[in-house]
Amino acid sequence: MRIDIITVLPQLLESPFGDSILKRAQTKGIVKVNFHNLRDYATNKHKNVDDYQFGGGAGMVMMIEPISILIEKLKSERTYDEVIYMTPDGETLNQGMSNQLSSAKNIIVLCGHYKGVDERVREHYITKEISIGDYVLSGGELAAAVLCDSIIRLIPGVLNNETSALTDSFQDDLLAPPVYTRPAEFNGWKVPEVLTSGDFKKIEVWREEKAIERTEARRPDL
Ligand code: ADE
Repeated sequence: MRIDIITVLPQLLESPFGDSILKRAQTKGIVKVNFHNLRDYATNKHKNVDDYQFGGGAGMVMMIEPISILIEKLKSERTYDEVIYMTPDGETLNQGMSNQLSSAKNIIVLCGHYKGVDERVREHYITKEISIGDYVLSGGELAAAVLCDSIIRLIPGVLNNETSALTDSFQDDLLAPPVYTRPAEFNGWKVPEVLTSGDFKKIEVWREEKAIERTEARRPDL
């Protein structure tokens, strides 16, 4: 998979993509992530990528020209499955959307800033608008990192068996069951006996029950 991220703050993305599973996925060659600094595509001599909004009002708006030049350039080089815009008024991200996007070949992710992008960008270039929740971040970069993390970990070969995504919360519309590790007793607090019984059938049944119990208690909407 190839992911092209359009941003005014590429340095904000370096850390989340430069460590752990996201780094490994890139080192293994499973995913190629490119950061594009929008300022490199600014058309005026001050390298502005934002301007005052027509009609007045506080807050700057991201201009269409640099975004258009960059997206047109990328689209002339390959076909994209989706051109995604990270915005708090987009569709709220869930596991189903991440599953679907994990099978894409090429995607563009545009990170919003200031008051957002000129509406014409959304009308003419964006195919999907995604929010990571009902709160407003300072920019779309952290949201893009969250989206990409949730997608990349689902691509076959990224996780090994121990970290398999199949047992994650939400994969079957259930929250994950509780987990424990050594010691089997700490401060008199014991690990549920079934988990140390060696009876794998029983353990499976216990985990299923706990997952259902937890989902009913915390997320009945699922
Ligand atoms: N940009 C600012 N807030 C955001 C959010 N909640 N989701 C996606 N992009 C955003």
